[in-house]
Amino acid sequence: MSLLIVKMNKQMRCLISAGPTREWLDPVRFISNPSSGKMGYSMASEGISRGMHVDLVSGPTSLEAPPGVFLVNVETALEMENEVNECFSGADIIIMTAAVCDHRPETNHQNKIKKDQFPSTMTFIPNPDILLGLGHKKVDSQVLVGFAAETENHLENAKNKLVEKKLDWIIMNDISKENTGFQSDFNRITMLSAQNESIEFGFEKKEFLAKKIFDVICR
Ligand code: PMT
Repeated sequence: MSLLIVKMNKQMRCLISAGPTREWLDPVRFISNPSSGKMGYSMASEGISRGMHVDLVSGPTSLEAPPGVFLVNVETALEMENEVNECFSGADIIIMTAAVCDHRPETNHQNKIKKDQFPSTMTFIPNPDILLGLGHKKVDSQVLVGFAAETENHLENAKNKLVEKKLDWIIMNDISKENTGFQSDFNRITMLSAQNESIEFGFEKKEFLAKKIFDVICR
């Protein structure tokens, strides 16, 4: 007699981070970066169209969350870390498109710094590397995907992040070319895997690339 093992059809859960973080210096000033959230929101939209449950942890953007997405708004890297960690253990696929500030001002002043008291130098302290933390606690059944926006030594830098952060895939954006990466509707990517695969896509719309990325990681 043969044993039939039936696997229940369970909805895939996808966790996506998107947008920039803001690191406050006082109530009216912060450091940040130009991430618009377009890449991450395109990934979230594609996840929904594939029938997945999508948790989108997003820094400040002017975009509307795709219908059906569970949106969690954050501002700082520390807030993003908390929310991503909340959703992590239940996620099958984790895609970190966010441009997280690596550093924050040592002091977040409670009151607005007066113009004549503005410091001429400032001390920054490191933020946690959220993805590095996830790579260390991920289990084999989870697929962990990072992004790397590179201006030089593109593939080498991206490969180093793939290995250091224990990722399954890293998606290198070449942002040295015009109209790609930050803020653009377009991107130019190469996907690198822990199994040494390399898949390159030309200059394409972010929505199109989101489909291709899911096709590859869901193979
Ligand atoms: O938002 P858009 O305008 O559409 O632009 C999209 C994008 C260019 C921001 C996106 O495609 C992208 O490349 N995101 C990653 C930006 C980057 O350079 O990341 P990084 O090399 O600093 O970090 C590598 C990976 O670690 C990323 O997945 C990042 O989310 C993660 N990270 C980084 C630092 C940190 N403290 N914590 C992290 O989790």
